[in-house]
Amino acid sequence: MPVDEGNHIFFRNVRRTHPLVVRGEGVYLYDEAGNRYLDGCAGALVANIGHGVESVARAMYEQAQTVGFTHLSRFASRPILELGERVTGIAPEGLDRLYLVSGGSEATESCLKMARQYFLERDGSSQKHVVIARWNAYHGNTLGALSMSGTIPRRRPYTPYLLDFPHINAPYCYRCPYEARPGRCGVPCAHELEDAINRVGAEYVSAFIAEPVVGAAAGALVPPAEYLPVIREICDRYDVLFIADEVMSGFGRTGAHFAVDHWNVVPDMMSLAKGMGSGYAPLGAVLAREEIWEAFWRGSGAFVHGHTYGGNPVACATGVAVFDYYLEHGLVDNSAHMGALLMEALAPLGDNPIVGDVRGLGLMIGVELVADRATRAPFPGGPGRMAERATGILMDHGVVVYPGGGSVEGRAGDHFLIGPPLVIDEGEVRELAAAVIEGLGALARAEGRA
Ligand SMILES: Cc1ncc(COP(=O)(O)O)c(C=O)c1O
Repeated sequence: MPVDEGNHIFFRNVRRTHPLVVRGEGVYLYDEAGNRYLDGCAGALVANIGHGVESVARAMYEQAQTVGFTHLSRFASRPILELGERVTGIAPEGLDRLYLVSGGSEATESCLKMARQYFLERDGSSQKHVVIARWNAYHGNTLGALSMSGTIPRRRPYTPYLLDFPHINAPYCYRCPYEARPGRCGVPCAHELEDAINRVGAEYVSAFIAEPVVGAAAGALVPPAEYLPVIREICDRYDVLFIADEVMSGFGRTGAHFAVDHWNVVPDMMSLAKGMGSGYAPLGAVLAREEIWEAFWRGSGAFVHGHTYGGNPVACATGVAVFDYYLEHGLVDNSAHMGALLMEALAPLGDNPIVGDVRGLGLMIGVELVADRATRAPFPGGPGRMAERATGILMDHGVVVYPGGGSVEGRAGDHFLIGPPLVIDEGEVRELAAAVIEGLGALARAEGRA
């Protein structure tokens, strides 16, 4: 018997019942039964400027009235030009070209194809096509994006379709594969890239892709300070493009415009989405270095790729209004300050026997759950099962978090992300932290571990 009787929606989880949300305001969501939820994960670290922002609704309405759709192959529109100016204005130096799409998977898939075609355009002919990626990474669900992703539970049903791209270890310091001490390790996980390039042959490798701060796949993994500079240097040495996947970490999420800014590393391309439209409209992009664009200009003149809704004027007008809201309300600084405060407020989790690690940057915070803190042994019963339980209990405590699993070789591992809208204030941070501490305390007791 269907559980969710009375509707025709094919939800991701077909067994779960879903509260019907009727309104959102700031960091809060309200359902039809009158429950209020603090949106502690901004959906999926998307709704960065918070819910119910009137200036954004107005911009969408006005653009829909002016012109709702033009196809990027024939026309420009004011919103795309304005968005291009704004985003490149805050981007790392040299990333001057914005290729517009509708979401994160389209953005990373476009990076994969842009990297391949770039070498064809630049060199006339090229064998460079292999993208090296990392385990415990998520770059999206379309087949190219999933081939680059290193999150085993999401890959497993589709492995027969996936491209044979090599993966190296992510900087997962809590479970360091080298059992090294962070800060003095010499980042062997970054040097793995050089070995991987040599194994494949640099003449076949087009790009390396990585999330500067890992999001959904492992719960806010922040690399050691030397990590990204070493990656940049290796990519330069082997003529390999560095793609920073900032779909989740971009637009203020980590307390800087883009996460790479923390380490002053300039990638060749960045994939963007989520916070770019803040959930008001499906919006994503590739930000590419001018030299990449120039290779197309001098070469064939056309990127053999595109999606119908790339550059949709209403989505881009939304992006412009969202962008202005970020800057007018100082949300990047607020993310840094409230993130630090939230970390501090979560400190009592250190006494919870099922909390192994709390980590992150700005308002991108990960909590890893373990069965045994001393050995770091994950919970049995399947990847993400305990994270789902934690999320259910936290919803009963009035906060929503974003669960994930499988970071321990795909067979186990439980974590969740805390990533509220960047508009969160001090009182809301304390409310969020208190609910998480209380909810995880209840879970530990229910598991007989406290
Ligand atoms: C880093 C990263 N890249 C790509 C994606 C895929 O984005 P989308 O779900 O919009 O296709 C996600 C989604 O969570 C992500 O976190």
